[in-house]
Amino acid sequence: MALKLGDTAPNFVAETTHGEIDFHKYIDGSWAILFSHPNDFTPVCTTELGAVSKFLPEFEKRGVKVLALSCNDVESHKAWIKDIESYTPNAPVTYPIISDPKRELAVKFGMLDPDEIDSAGIPLTARAVYIFGPDKKLKLSILYPATTGRNFNEVLRVIDSLQLTATHSVATPVNWNVGDRCMVVPSLSNEAATEKFPKGFETIEVPSGKQYIRLTPQPNL
Ligand code: BEZ
Repeated sequence: MALKLGDTAPNFVAETTHGEIDFHKYIDGSWAILFSHPNDFTPVCTTELGAVSKFLPEFEKRGVKVLALSCNDVESHKAWIKDIESYTPNAPVTYPIISDPKRELAVKFGMLDPDEIDSAGIPLTARAVYIFGPDKKLKLSILYPATTGRNFNEVLRVIDSLQLTATHSVATPVNWNVGDRCMVVPSLSNEAATEKFPKGFETIEVPSGKQYIRLTPQPNL
């Protein structure tokens, strides 16, 4: 069963490159990202894990705990880390990688890719991204097939949006980045928006005459 937005993260205890981890204890009131990989010693995965290592200061700045998963054992992960660090220099892999050789967690989280089958005929783990809030609830999920690498710039961008919109009555428009104008959420009346956003908001005129496109400077800057 795939996780749905708003679901509480199922807890699990797993072997990782940092020893045994209890997921809920690991999250411990922080934001968290759990991202999965089809297999150790595969080219796309190697580039992705290196990119995440490079971005670790960015995740830390946002208070996001990082946890990877790949469907091999810890010994294999440890050997693979040497390749990852060689491919992406100056970016040590200091976050834990879960060992899920039987794909139990991949099944639990609904991460399998039925189009990518291993030599034993078992579906590989897809490239899933789960972002959980401090309340352990799922805030965002992305599921890519094994053959398409993720864009971790986009992952950081959505974390910025998730963290902003969790505490302010705004939504972020297409291709939004930190510093761009935000949209007042439709549930807020003009009167409430005037009170909430001291910098004001602009209502965009549209043929319908409906006043639903309201832009405001990013409220927490
Ligand atoms: C890769 O990481 O390169 C990969 C893994 C499984 C299927 C295809 C590509």
